[in-house]
Amino acid sequence: SQRKEIDDTLAAFALSPTQLQEVKAKMRVELERGLKKDSHPTASVKMLPTYVYRTPDGTERGKYLALDLGGTNFRVLVVKIRTGMRNSVRMYNKIYAIPLEIMQGTGEELFDHIVQCISDFLDYMGMKNTRLPLGFTFSFPCNQTDLVCWTKGFKATECEGYDVVDMLREAIKRRNEFDLDIVAIVNDTVGTMMTCAYEDPKCQIGLIAGTGSNVCYMEEMKNIEFVEGDEGQMCVNTEWGGFGANDNIEDIRTRYDREVDGGSLNPGKQRFEKMTSGMYLGEIVRRILIDLTKHGLLFRGRITERLKTKGIFETKFLSQIESDRLALLQVRSILQHLGLDSTCDDSIIVKEVCGAVSRRAAQLCGAGMAAVVDKIRENRGLDNLEITVGVDGTLYKLHPHFSTILKDTVRELAPNCKVDFILSEDGSGKGAALITAVIDKYLYAMR
Ligand code: BG6
Ligand code: GLC
Repeated sequence: SQRKEIDDTLAAFALSPTQLQEVKAKMRVELERGLKKDSHPTASVKMLPTYVYRTPDGTERGKYLALDLGGTNFRVLVVKIRTGMRNSVRMYNKIYAIPLEIMQGTGEELFDHIVQCISDFLDYMGMKNTRLPLGFTFSFPCNQTDLVCWTKGFKATECEGYDVVDMLREAIKRRNEFDLDIVAIVNDTVGTMMTCAYEDPKCQIGLIAGTGSNVCYMEEMKNIEFVEGDEGQMCVNTEWGGFGANDNIEDIRTRYDREVDGGSLNPGKQRFEKMTSGMYLGEIVRRILIDLTKHGLLFRGRITERLKTKGIFETKFLSQIESDRLALLQVRSILQHLGLDSTCDDSIIVKEVCGAVSRRAAQLCGAGMAAVVDKIRENRGLDNLEITVGVDGTLYKLHPHFSTILKDTVRELAPNCKVDFILSEDGSGKGAALITAVIDKYLYAMR
């Protein structure tokens, strides 16, 4: 029957507790492989060193410029950190658009555009003549300051393998209008962890569930084989979005995941990210809907141009469709708004499809997180661990069920860890400024 066909399609997205345990175990193996000298260069989970040795201790201070590139919004900010009776951070920021043709144009065009936005911001703030230290939240895999590869929606030419600081510095020189000291390049997971750790010292993990998906955490120096030194800790940017590159999760990937991957800017790469993050969940949903329509199970069997259009289901629409407060009639009006004519039955099915895809995403993310917290617990030789995760990202913030399912999964798969999740309230730019403050203080001491 029709019902059975729909159930069969969605069954592939329902992961059993055993399957989730397996994902956790495989993630653990890849985390370890990424830390070992021999396997590090080819690991699917890159485990990039960040040279951030500690979270903020409240002594950071100063006035910084920060950039935040790679999520939904590109932001330029001024961050003022003051110490005193009560530490305080003030921020002023402006959001700028990055047109698609710039995200996928040449590297020079991209960095010229960034510098033009900085210029506009400095004019707006009346700060053109103050040479501020700059912290750059750059939400892509970087080895020190070198961009390893683009992910998500970026594909500018002549950037991969190049030094991000050099590219920004050269664009500033080309414009020849103002000067900046580029002090730090920070991944958004690290910025988020630092922002949250400023409020809660137990925060030693950063999670992004947004356009992309990624985690960083404080690892023991002695476990990071490819970095000199055995004392203390360092934050590692896992780049767990790359999990699956060695075909080890093919058993849980569906044909829809493969279709989405094939139609992406980076086929074969970031397989875990493509099952867990905002940029791709809507695409998985769309592929399923097309398939169900082909089989005459939806939209009266008519595949419209609209349904064939890539990217129509943004995270915010998925979140709205899945909201329990919404009546089905409102689901239909959202679909209508997307150009999809639906019956009442259609709207029920669409909601089920969205639910299956986002539930799997949250569970996978939870399984990955369970691997991370259990690793930290074992690192410290503890029977029980209490730890806080600082989180950001539109999927986590807007989706009505994602965060609950994520937390439930972590609780089930890592029962010896008590994991708190706190939301990063003002993005990761503040974290970039805090890191810049730490480095700036150090550089000052060196002079
Ligand atoms: C923002 C952070 O709040 O969240 C960014 O400031 C981060 O650094 C972003 O990249 C992640 O979420 P999304 O959904 O915008 O990709
Ligand atoms: C992608 C990037 C990663 C970033 C994440 C979240 O996975 O490769 O660096 O942290 O998206 O924005």
